[in-house]
Amino acid sequence: MADTNKSIHGEWSSRFAFILAATGSAVGLGNIWKFPYITGENGGGAFVIVYLLCVAAIGIPIMIAETMMGRRGRQSPINTLQTLTEEAGANKNWHYLGWLGVIAGFLILSYYSVIAGWSMAYVIKAFTGSFSGESASQISGLFADLQASPIQQAFWHTLFIIATMAIVARGVQGGLEKAVRFLMPSLFAILMLLVAYAMTTGSYMQGIEFLFKPDFSELTAASVLTAMGHAFFTLSLGMGAIMVYGSYLPKDISIGKTAIIIAGADTLVALLAGIAIFPIVFANGLEVGSGPGLIFETLPIAFGSMTGGWLFGVLFFILLVFAALSSAISLIEPAVAWCVEHYGIERKHACIGMGFFTWLLGMGTVLSFNQWSDVTFFGATFFESLDYLTANLMLPLGGLFIALFAGRIMLPKDSKEELNLGNDMLFTIWKFLVSYVAPAAVFIVFLNVLGVFGIFS
Ligand code: TRP
Repeated sequence: MADTNKSIHGEWSSRFAFILAATGSAVGLGNIWKFPYITGENGGGAFVIVYLLCVAAIGIPIMIAETMMGRRGRQSPINTLQTLTEEAGANKNWHYLGWLGVIAGFLILSYYSVIAGWSMAYVIKAFTGSFSGESASQISGLFADLQASPIQQAFWHTLFIIATMAIVARGVQGGLEKAVRFLMPSLFAILMLLVAYAMTTGSYMQGIEFLFKPDFSELTAASVLTAMGHAFFTLSLGMGAIMVYGSYLPKDISIGKTAIIIAGADTLVALLAGIAIFPIVFANGLEVGSGPGLIFETLPIAFGSMTGGWLFGVLFFILLVFAALSSAISLIEPAVAWCVEHYGIERKHACIGMGFFTWLLGMGTVLSFNQWSDVTFFGATFFESLDYLTANLMLPLGGLFIALFAGRIMLPKDSKEELNLGNDMLFTIWKFLVSYVAPAAVFIVFLNVLGVFGIFS
């Protein structure tokens, strides 16, 4: 264990601050962009039920594991893993798990920032009335134009990285905590406004039915696996983001209850985003299964034709930018914390360095939509390869090993002491879930993405 009781990077000022920050990390493009479109593609209600089961049985136990490991190690994931490996007297190679996470976060942020950049561009488009009175094909054209322009995308990507780094540079309380204290309530307020609007569209019940009425005949093995993979991504698990946030958690706070609140809030936001989006899609006779373009192509068509649509369009894309920003800071915090620990440099300088490399790599994603669109690795563009490598390989692998480490490598007396659940039975259930259930489930997802179950995908 680190000999100090606090992280050198500081601590959250309260349990509530940690809940806000971790919820801010969890709630992101995954909830508002990805969840609605994959639900649309996978037939609705039954998919939602599987996703909820995955959050409860795999997501929450791993979130508890990451938070617990972070708080016990009190450092960036790389050094935390090193400390915990020594404490457990385990094989030294376990510390590569920390590296896997830090690198995954850096890679994810590089493309996450480009998509967040599109959202920023769309705030302006909505504000200047670019959608009103336009035909569906003109609106698709707007999206195609943005993708075709390296300059426009580079501009927004640069701005988003600068905003992210400016927050991270200000530190745990002055930067991260202050940002989420503003971003999260605003996000929630905007979301409630959009839900209220959706209730007035006349297709509200159709949207609700789509989300909550399960039709198990629509459920395929591939959708079960998609639901499971998404549970990881949406809860920010598998790469140490929650671990590094856990390392700033004061000692006296109960981890179990807190993780349940965070997972619950993340799920609530995803469902509310669905409740806001589907009625609007149905009311305008649009296609729910339109894929990743659902919010950049389909939804603007609705914003363009409805009364007050520009205002709701502006609000919607601001919501998306806020959600992305509070997630982005958690993607790079592990790398920044490690630089500070390892090189003994100031946080500000670590941010400039990491920001630059992330920005540079992100330019690869920008170009993959235009200039480099025919440069492919195994048939995938640069962006698609990065997305695949991180979301489909690195996160499940990271999650699998985190679960195994917490459940089977750490000494039970240590994990029990750190968790302090106050109830032996709860501890036994948690330990069973992370030792067996979560690894087995992740292993299945992992085999699937490697194509072992190619028939399902
Ligand atoms: N959870 C975020 C979303 O849903 C994305 C994210 C932030 C993330 N930090 C992460 C995903 C760490 C995986 C790992 O958009």
